[in-house]
Amino acid sequence: MSAIRPAAVVVLAAGEGTRMKSATPKVLHEICGRSLVGHVLAAARELNPESLVVVVGHAREQVTAHLAEVDAAARTAVQEKQKGTGHAVRMGLEELGGAVEGTVIVVCGDTPLLTAGTLRDLAAAHAGGGNAVTVLTAEVPDATGYGRIVRDAETGAVTAIVEHKDATEAELAIREINSGVFAFDGRLLADALGKVRTDNSQGEEYLTDVLGILREAGHRVGASVAGDHREIAGINNRVQLAEARRILNDRLLTAAMLSGVTVVDPATTWVDVTVTFEQDVTVLPGTQLHGATHLAAGSVVGPNSRLTDTKVGAGARVDNTVSDGAVVGPEASVGPYAYLRPGTRLGPKSKVGTYVETKNARIGEGTKVPHLSYVGDATIGEYTNIGAASVFVNYDGQDKHHTTVGSHCRTGSDNMFVAPVTIGDGAYTAAGSVITKNVPPGSLAVARGQQRNIEGWVARKRPGSAAAKAAEAATPKAEGEA
Ligand code: UD1
Ligand code: MG
Repeated sequence: MSAIRPAAVVVLAAGEGTRMKSATPKVLHEICGRSLVGHVLAAARELNPESLVVVVGHAREQVTAHLAEVDAAARTAVQEKQKGTGHAVRMGLEELGGAVEGTVIVVCGDTPLLTAGTLRDLAAAHAGGGNAVTVLTAEVPDATGYGRIVRDAETGAVTAIVEHKDATEAELAIREINSGVFAFDGRLLADALGKVRTDNSQGEEYLTDVLGILREAGHRVGASVAGDHREIAGINNRVQLAEARRILNDRLLTAAMLSGVTVVDPATTWVDVTVTFEQDVTVLPGTQLHGATHLAAGSVVGPNSRLTDTKVGAGARVDNTVSDGAVVGPEASVGPYAYLRPGTRLGPKSKVGTYVETKNARIGEGTKVPHLSYVGDATIGEYTNIGAASVFVNYDGQDKHHTTVGSHCRTGSDNMFVAPVTIGDGAYTAAGSVITKNVPPGSLAVARGQQRNIEGWVARKRPGSAAAKAAEAATPKAEGEA
């Protein structure tokens, strides 16, 4: 293992990414819950390099701020002007104090599908071959725009990398391309970078020229061919962004399915890299799982649900739901058409039903909020039933207040609980009540206007109307009336 531990990883991320046509720097665009550069950093970190430096340039304040969030240990080197990949690596090495003793891996910040496994294979091939430089290559169906790998016709050894714009007709026919990922001997890299010239079609310092320079100096140059060419694809526009998202999503779902998750429709199921599953979970079509979402054994989620940072307990059922920052207890039932907001904690076997919104709400074991309700800033005990169309009135226009409902309560339909208020254990409330005062345990609270029937009102005020006729027909005639 120690043989392939790199001394440094240099991530190139100074380019602008004009083809994204975006106010957001290219490497900050996201797929599967992580920025493009975030994916590259995650893969590089698995190799446990002694140091890691990201070369930033275009929109560097934004990129640097993002790096501080996702990888605080990453160092940054500034490349003021984008004078080529060779120049960029030079800036990276300068940040590390010049020549680095040991292996230096160079990757681009826009290749989110690159895996740690492929980087390890590259590092192993590099160490095993005793190479000065090893380039990661791939055979691609369409090599347009890529640097071509030129090999010696007899020995098959890599002799040079020729950029598309500088290639001859014969070189353009080559389908093996430079991925832009390399392993270098740190000292030889630093020496060779000093010799790179800019007499090419782009007037840039090409990192790829280092290969020829090292080879001419008599050093070993090697190549490691990636098993799957899609892994090394760099993202340049939003079509490629969508393609990469689809590939990564498929990869994540495949891993989940192989670990015992049923994904009914992988085409309409989207997950972040940070989502975790236990065995025998079922994910129904049209479901998006984001952030630190975890689905425990036997839970069923979907269809058409979007869960962010949500823990779903074993055997729970979540149907047509949007949830953010909630914990759903084991065997709880949510939806269809529920909205769980941050701070929602649903106990085991509890129920949040149809058209119910919850926020900062603790709902105890076996408690049900089945229909058309808002539960905000509330604690509800165990085995309580909240009547349909209830609102926990938590906001007085200035501050939020808390409502506590005990265990084994039965609250009526269409109740307003005007916080702060407490309903004791075993209490009942009458339908249509506006509860503004605490209810002692075991009491029935009635807080609504008394009903008054004004008899004969329709006959007097709406004579001859359909209502009056219907009422007359329904009124029993008195004895002797004609
Ligand atoms: C580069 C390679 C090409 C390879 C291709 C793979 C060179 C000369 N060419 O071409 O052989 O097939 O990648 O995708 O290396 N960058 C900087 N500073 C710069 C220039 C680039 O940081 O001054 C960064 C970019 O942000 C990007 C990476 O380096 O992440 C590659 O640069 P890009 O301009 O995309 O290189 P290509 O022309 O695609
Ligand atoms: Mg370029």
